[in-house]
Amino acid sequence: MPLEHDQILTAFNRAAPQYERHAVLQKEAMERLLERVESDLTDAPNTILDLGCGTGWACQPLLTSYPQAQIIAADFAADMIAQIPPHAQVEGRVTDAHCIDINAASVDLVYSNLMLQWCNQETVFKEIKRALKPGGTLHITSMGEHTLHELKSAWQSIDQEPHVNSFAPTTELADCLFRLGFEEVIADSEFITMTYANVFDLMRDIKNIGAHNTDNQRRKGLTTPQTIKRLDAAYQEFIQDGLYPATYELVYLRAKKSTTDKGLQVKINAT
Ligand SMILES: C[S@@+](CC[C@H](N)C(=O)[O-])C[C@H]1O[C@@H](n2cnc3c(N)ncnc32)[C@H](O)[C@@H]1O
Repeated sequence: MPLEHDQILTAFNRAAPQYERHAVLQKEAMERLLERVESDLTDAPNTILDLGCGTGWACQPLLTSYPQAQIIAADFAADMIAQIPPHAQVEGRVTDAHCIDINAASVDLVYSNLMLQWCNQETVFKEIKRALKPGGTLHITSMGEHTLHELKSAWQSIDQEPHVNSFAPTTELADCLFRLGFEEVIADSEFITMTYANVFDLMRDIKNIGAHNTDNQRRKGLTTPQTIKRLDAAYQEFIQDGLYPATYELVYLRAKKSTTDKGLQVKINAT
C-alpha cells in the first residue's frame, strides 16, 4: 500500500463533486488513452474494467466504441462512484485497486487512466492479471520519472526535501509487467506541458494529479509565503510568455495476459 492511503482516499472523496471541472490533464490523457485502445483492440471487449474510474467519464466514449460492452467502473472513493451517470451497462463499484472486488478471469479489457501513480504498482498489476481473462488486454496511463522537472529543479535550489513525488521509470513498469508474466508489453511516454498563471495555481493542480509528495517522511507543515517567494524566483528561468510551465511525462502501458494463463495452479502431490 502507498503511504498515506487514507489521506489520498479522503482527498478524492472531497474532490469528487468538482473533479471534472479541474481535471484538465486527466481529460487530455483520457482522450489519448481511448484513441490508443481503439486503434489497438481487434476484437470488441464484452466486459471492461475501468480501474480508478473517478466520475466515470470514460464510460460513455467506451460505450460509443463498444456498444455491447458491460463496464465495471471501479474506484475506492465512494463519492467518485456517486458521480457516475446511471446507465444500464455501467456498474459502479467501490473497491480498492490493491484488492479488487472482482471475479478472477472475468474481464476482457482493463482501462485505467492516471490512477496507477497513487498505488503500489506491482500489487495492482497482479490484481489486474487476476481480473483479466486469458488473452485479455490492459491499457493504462501513469506518471513518468521526468514529471515536473521544472518544479523539482526550483525546489532543489531552496532545500533538499522531496517535495515532488519520484515516479518509476517507464522501463521499470514494463519490466514489472514482464516479470509478472504479461505478454506483448508496450510501454512508451510523451510529454504534456500545462501552463499556469502563478506558482500557487501550479502547486494546487499537482495535488489533484497526485504528483505532490505523499511520502510520510517528508517535512510536515505549511509552505511559508517566504518559501513561495523563493520558489517563484527559482522558477523564473522556466517562465515563457509570462506563464509557469509544468511538464508531465504521461506513461502508456499496454500488455496482454497470456491466452494459456489459467491463473495460479496449486499442485498437491499425493504421497
Ligand atoms: C486522477 S483520478 C483519475 C480518474 C479517472 N480515471 C479519469 O480519467 O479522470 C485518480 C482516481 O484513482 C482513484 N484511486 C486512487 N487510488 C486508488 C486505489 N487504490 N483504488 C481505487 N481507486 C483509486 C481515485 O479515487 C481517483 O478517482
